[in-house]
Amino acid sequence: MRIVLLGPPGAGKGTQARRLEEHLGLPIIATGDIFREHVSQDSELGREARSYMDNGELVPDDIVVRMVLDRLSQPDALNGFILDGFPRTVPQAQALENSLAEEGRPLSAALKFNIDDEVAVKRLANRWTCSNCRRIYNAEFKPPRTPGECDVCGGVLIRRDDDDEVTVRRRLDIYRKETEPLEFYFWERGLLREIDAEGSADDVEARTAEEISDLKEPSS
Ligand code: AP5
Repeated sequence: MRIVLLGPPGAGKGTQARRLEEHLGLPIIATGDIFREHVSQDSELGREARSYMDNGELVPDDIVVRMVLDRLSQPDALNGFILDGFPRTVPQAQALENSLAEEGRPLSAALKFNIDDEVAVKRLANRWTCSNCRRIYNAEFKPPRTPGECDVCGGVLIRRDDDDEVTVRRRLDIYRKETEPLEFYFWERGLLREIDAEGSADDVEARTAEEISDLKEPSS
C-alpha cells in the first residue's frame, strides 16, 4: 500500500502515521521529520531548510523532491510507504506521480484529514515532541506520564520552533494556498479519501482504518 497523508498543520497526520505504521507495517516517510533531523545535525541541507521552516514557509520543491525520491528508492519503501507531509505542492505531486509510474507502483490513496483552523492552533500550542524517537505528545490531550519525558524512550520532550501561534497561522495560510489544490489533483485521479480529524486520536484512527479497509495488502 502506498499512501499519502494530507491535511493542515495540527490535523494529526504525524499521530495517525504512527498508528498506520503499526497497523500496516509500512515505513513512514515524513519530510518535516527528515528536515528536522538535518537541522539538529547542522548539515548543509538542514541549514538550508531551517531558514524556510522557522518562518513557516515551504522548502523549495527541487530540494524536497530529490530528498523524497531518493528515500523512496530505499529497500524498506519498495513494498509500500506512508508519506507524511509530501507532496505539498502540485509540482511535488507531479514529480511523485511520474517517478512512481516509471516504476509501476502507483499510489493507493491520498488521505485528507479535515480539521478546523482554531482546533489546529490549539493542538499545536500544546504539542511536545520527543527529541529522540519523535513520538508526539500533547499537554492537554495526550500528556506524558512524567512531564518533559517521553513515555517510551525517556527522551527529552521539546517544543517545535514553528509552533508559535504567528508561525502556525502562516503555515495554515500557506497550506490553503499551496497544498489545498492537491485535494482536487488527487480527487481527479480517484485517490482522495476525506477523514474527519476532530475528536479523539482513537476515533480518528478508527475512521482511517474504515476508510482504507478496501485497499489491497501492503505488498501489492
Ligand atoms: P511538517 O513537520 O510536515 O509539519 P505540518 O505538516 O505543518 O504538520 P504538523 O507536524 O505540524 O502537524 P500534524 O498534522 O502532523 O499533527 P500532529 O500529529 O503532530 O512540516 C514542517 C515544515 O517542514 C514545513 O512548514 C516546511 O517548512 C517543511 N516541509 C515539510 N515537508 C515539506 C514539503 N513537502 N515541501 C516543502 N517544505 C516542507 O498533531 C498535532 C498535535 O495535536 C499533537 O500535540 C498531537 O498529540 C495532537 N493531536 C493529534 N491528533 C489529535 C486528536 N485527534 N485529538 C487531540 N489531539 C490530537
